[in-house]
Amino acid sequence: MKTIGESMYNNKSKIDINIVNKGTILSDVFESFNLNDLSIISSHTSRVVNLSKIIANKYDEDEEKVFLASLLHDIAGVISSKRWVEFCSENSIAISDLERKIPILTHQKISKWIASNVYNITDSEILSAIECHTTLKKNPSNTDLIVFIADKIEWDQQGEPPYKSAMLNALDISLEKSALIYISYVIDNNLLKVPHPWILEARFALERSIKTTHNTTSEQRSTGE
Ligand SMILES: [Fe+2]
Repeated sequence: MKTIGESMYNNKSKIDINIVNKGTILSDVFESFNLNDLSIISSHTSRVVNLSKIIANKYDEDEEKVFLASLLHDIAGVISSKRWVEFCSENSIAISDLERKIPILTHQKISKWIASNVYNITDSEILSAIECHTTLKKNPSNTDLIVFIADKIEWDQQGEPPYKSAMLNALDISLEKSALIYISYVIDNNLLKVPHPWILEARFALERSIKTTHNTTSEQRSTGE
């Protein structure tokens, strides 16, 4: 396992964070969850890391990028959700009016900030997957899709997610299909108070990409390619 962030955390944040940074990112993250009594986030993160690895192998994607993004995607939990909006304004994290009204939407940006400023992650693909793990975004990379999908299948609530088996089955077809099953489920069942613009853009882009792939495959079949 690669060791990242060997320097001690030098508190770049203007709000104190109760977080461990001793140099081994895997144990640092779980020790940080432990320190803040975050057993649900800890177990959820561990399941997301495991599932992301399986999906990354299935799709031949970079295992380490997927690992780091999954590991850090909910690290914002070390800060009380009551302070998320304040944390963003104190640390110059740009948020929209919708994110200000629905603070849960800010945690993906705060996790990205911590990954970058505490654990010194610089890879844009890893940071992007952390930043859009809740809403996805238009034209997502495979790393974005894998972390998003694993986060939804291995949710942090009780019982099995209603869309779980459909998403798992769709993984045999494509990452896009699997992600779209979740997005359509939450939007069509009005489960989002107000859908974030990124999830709407993601839906549009995924539908278009699936349609294009389907049409290309059909054309190839009819021309015998
Ligand atoms: Fe999560």
